[in-house]
Amino acid sequence: MGENGQIRIAAVGDIHYTKTSKGRLHDAFIEASGNADVLLLAGDLTDYGLADEANVLAEDLKANVKIPILAVLGNHDFESDQASEVKSIVEAAGVEFLDGSCVEIKGIGFAGVCGFGGGFDRQMLSAWGEPLIKAFVQESVNHSLKLEKALTNLSTEKKVVLLHYSPIRQTVQGENPEIYPFLGSSHLEATIDHFGALVVFHGHAHNGTLEGKTARDVQVFNVAQPVLMRTQKKPLFYYKV
Ligand SMILES: [Fe+2]
Ligand SMILES: [Fe+2]
Repeated sequence: MGENGQIRIAAVGDIHYTKTSKGRLHDAFIEASGNADVLLLAGDLTDYGLADEANVLAEDLKANVKIPILAVLGNHDFESDQASEVKSIVEAAGVEFLDGSCVEIKGIGFAGVCGFGGGFDRQMLSAWGEPLIKAFVQESVNHSLKLEKALTNLSTEKKVVLLHYSPIRQTVQGENPEIYPFLGSSHLEATIDHFGALVVFHGHAHNGTLEGKTARDVQVFNVAQPVLMRTQKKPLFYYKV
């Protein structure tokens, strides 16, 4: 715990571990263990959602990270229908996954969910027409309901939200606008603003923008690793809450 009851968060998303990634984040993980109280992984932990990729990441985490690790899955982690195996392997390395759940660390509350697409603001897709469109929108709503449950279960004054998909348009800017509907959903923003949070970390939009704010001024950071490398030339984002 730092001064004034603050804790230091290290966050990164979209590390996309492959079978040959062993040691890739060695220095960053060692640094986080010395400089932060918790490490957040904002989804796309693996490249193709393979158990073999998860094993490489689990070994790196186990060997180098000495602080609590919280994570959400990303869409890549679902690619090979091995998401539950990927999750178990990474869990065995000491990582706690948030999927509509929450945890308290040193007096700070963390709530998380993967999230889903659907688009932003007035361009948000609505549940109208074919059953497949309705199912797509329902999936998006379901993720925001899971986040609602996680946030309402937290009694801490300070709340941190961890997502893979973005809750706002601002932090996906830089991507082609044609794919915005697949990068996040304003349903997540509505939940965050209604139930309150101090700060949100997400990934997924590799070409997006580091920083933005919700309608009610909650800070949002897109910590996708390519964004961090582009904006700060370092693979981890540090933030004090
Ligand atoms: Fe990604
Ligand atoms: Fe992604």
